[in-house]
Amino acid sequence: MRILMVCLGNICRSPLAEGMLRHKIVERGLPWEVDSAGTAKDHAGSPPDSRMIQTARKAGIDLTSLRARQFTSADFQRFDRIYVMDHRNRDNVLSLAKQDSDRHKVALLLNHLNPNESAEVPDPYYGNTEDFQQVLALVDAATEALINDLSHEH
Ligand code: 4NP
Repeated sequence: MRILMVCLGNICRSPLAEGMLRHKIVERGLPWEVDSAGTAKDHAGSPPDSRMIQTARKAGIDLTSLRARQFTSADFQRFDRIYVMDHRNRDNVLSLAKQDSDRHKVALLLNHLNPNESAEVPDPYYGNTEDFQQVLALVDAATEALINDLSHEH
């Protein structure tokens, strides 16, 4: 299983989702591959936002080695599942899809937690510490549900 987490900047939500899922799959011994990307290129090459690094660190997750990159259409070949954090990221990713098999790989991360609700992981960039903590709680619960769902599938 090759999983890509996608947000807008690849400096807040998707690096956390990558780090958290990687942490969980190592704990469980699952041979999955995890990466993340942003649909915007503004932050390419940058480490995660320092507020996200701090929030993750409190949960025992180290994001310091991650560097942002932009999502490209080649990612449809490289990954089996592409999880987007919000509707805007989904629109951006789907605009690069060439075929139905690409589109079928794309889903909202929170659909694992709340199926059919179309819920979003809110963008914390202009928010406060509590907003970052809320992102962590959502991503923690959703990655737990994702592992349960996908490990029963395969
Ligand atoms: P992310 O958060 O998409 O979770 O990485 C953002 C980071 C940067 C910006 C917006 C959202 N920005 O507008 O620069």
